Amino acid sequence: MRKMGREDKNIFRKGLAELTPYIPGKPVEEVRRELGLKGRIVRLASNENPIGPSPKAVARMKEVLGEINFYPDGGCFELRAALAEKHALAPGHFVFGNGVDNLIPLAVNTFVNSGDEVIIPTPSFAAYRTSTVVAGGMPVAVPLKNFQLHGEDIYRAVSPKTKMIFICNPNNPTGTIMPAGDLKKLMAALPPSVVVVMDEAYYEYVDHPGYPDSLAHLKRNENVVIFRTFSKIYGLAGLRLGYGMARPDYVNAMEKIREPFAANRVVQAGALEALADQAHTQQVKDAHGRGKQVLCQGLSDLNINFIPTEANFLFADLGVDMELLFPTLLKNGVIIRPGTAWGYPTFARITIGTPDENQFFLDQLAIVLKEWR
Ligand SMILES: Cc1ncc(COP(=O)(O)O)c(C=O)c1O
Repeated sequence: MRKMGREDKNIFRKGLAELTPYIPGKPVEEVRRELGLKGRIVRLASNENPIGPSPKAVARMKEVLGEINFYPDGGCFELRAALAEKHALAPGHFVFGNGVDNLIPLAVNTFVNSGDEVIIPTPSFAAYRTSTVVAGGMPVAVPLKNFQLHGEDIYRAVSPKTKMIFICNPNNPTGTIMPAGDLKKLMAALPPSVVVVMDEAYYEYVDHPGYPDSLAHLKRNENVVIFRTFSKIYGLAGLRLGYGMARPDYVNAMEKIREPFAANRVVQAGALEALADQAHTQQVKDAHGRGKQVLCQGLSDLNINFIPTEANFLFADLGVDMELLFPTLLKNGVIIRPGTAWGYPTFARITIGTPDENQFFLDQLAIVLKEWR
């Protein structure tokens, strides 16, 4: 018998030893509390929509607050029908989750056996590796080249043990896309035992003509699982709703282990309205375009290099170690995401905010850089 209260390092699952907790963008409240700041704080750290959701979605969600003593419809009947129509798919092609964050482990747990290899571009979104390790899978890192993900590099990493490939498109944190030709060649070359997960959290922001039509691959019944979210252009990050689109046999398998009520009642109602309010979505996209222009021009004026982006954030080399720069920017009321977590200590990932937020950020950055450059 072990004595109660004694430390036993083996009590936790084996994979956990090599993991560290996800570090999200610092919340405004935390920065205010920790630094005692009274003035303006601009947070460009989590790729949120700075304008917010459709006012029609907000109004509908307020109505639904009167019904929150009841469980939601776990199958998301109405939203499923609306999305099926929007994407010209069958309702059976959809699975819903508490954000894409919730769907990533769902996909891994549906397909990946212990010892299977999972190909993960690097740098990219941290959850792919975490979910893989927790499931006992073996992450295989494929480095980006020149901040770009190449289909051939992924294909070269495929082995008889490969079960899943993550493609974050546009990629977080670089904002770059893997083009349609690369995806086409990759899909044609892969054995049927490999599932390709396309994380398209930033899909709605992309303007690039070379962006792949991943749904066309799904419509040919190929081995893809496509993720989209209501957290970004639809502005519902705080309520959590993501969806996956895949072949019905894949969806049926995922349905066996998904949380029964992952998509809550309030967000389901809000998402339905948000989808219908395309005028608002267009407004957000137009504002994003204006914000992007201000930010790109301002960074260029400060002689800062950044990677051309297709998403609502920029990966920029600020030229100074973020260990120094980040705390100073915080004191000046600016929260961005240091590139340190992705192995780029002088880089930062900056969410494209409103023109006004971007200008505030640029002004503070110019002040702070004078100190360090
Ligand atoms: C690539 C990528 N996937 C998934 C997510 C999480 O999306 P959700 O809010 O739907 O969980 C993010 C959020 O930043 C992301 O950047």
